Amino acid sequence: MSKAEQSVTIISATSAHVADLHAIELQVSPSPWTAGQFEESLRHHSAYVLQQSGNVCGFLIFSCIAGAAELINIAVAPAHQGQGLGSRLLGFCLECVEGKADSIFLDVRVSNFPAISMYANKGFVQVGERRDYYRKPHGREDALVMACELNANLFASDDQD
Ligand SMILES: CC(C)(COP(=O)(O)OP(=O)(O)OC[C@H]1O[C@@H](n2cnc3c(N)ncnc32)[C@H](O)[C@@H]1OP(=O)(O)O)[C@@H](O)C(=O)NCCC(=O)NCCS
Repeated sequence: MSKAEQSVTIISATSAHVADLHAIELQVSPSPWTAGQFEESLRHHSAYVLQQSGNVCGFLIFSCIAGAAELINIAVAPAHQGQGLGSRLLGFCLECVEGKADSIFLDVRVSNFPAISMYANKGFVQVGERRDYYRKPHGREDALVMACELNANLFASDDQD
């Protein structure tokens, strides 16, 4: 575990965090959610913030209802990326839904190589594709649908060679 990861805490997000979540979203997303969408999401989904030395530098939003789990949004502020924090949030998400669903699904832009790589590292595989699913500045972009078998993930480890 890196020094950056050691000082990290993950806590439930509240409406008091919406401005921080929105500020991160504006920095990382080609079609960012509005603050109102975060407010709405907090009412209906499980949401967490990742803090480093008390500062919010990442977030995670997922749902797990009636055995159906979906990763809805995950992000790390650009200044904090590449330090293992995204993997930490994703691992936390998998721990939360383990035992409550057989698998967890997500959509990701086909061009989003860092995220696709992070998901693959944690055991996600592509199970589908959605044509023109995302908006981008000039047109539309396809989504990959990825899924992680949660039982299989029980045997995955960050320490594997
Ligand atoms: C995807 C994201 C959350 C990763 O966060 P992070 O803290 O940088 O990720 P980590 O440092 O934990 O790295 C985890 C893995 O992601 C991949 N990754 C991260 N940055 C990468 C980059 N620039 N290029 C390629 N792969 C990258 C690698 O597989 C990495 O594993 P490795 O270090 O063993 O090679 C972050 O890039 C982000 O917030 N992106 C914008 C929001 C977003 O795209 N969310 C996903 C929506 S579906």
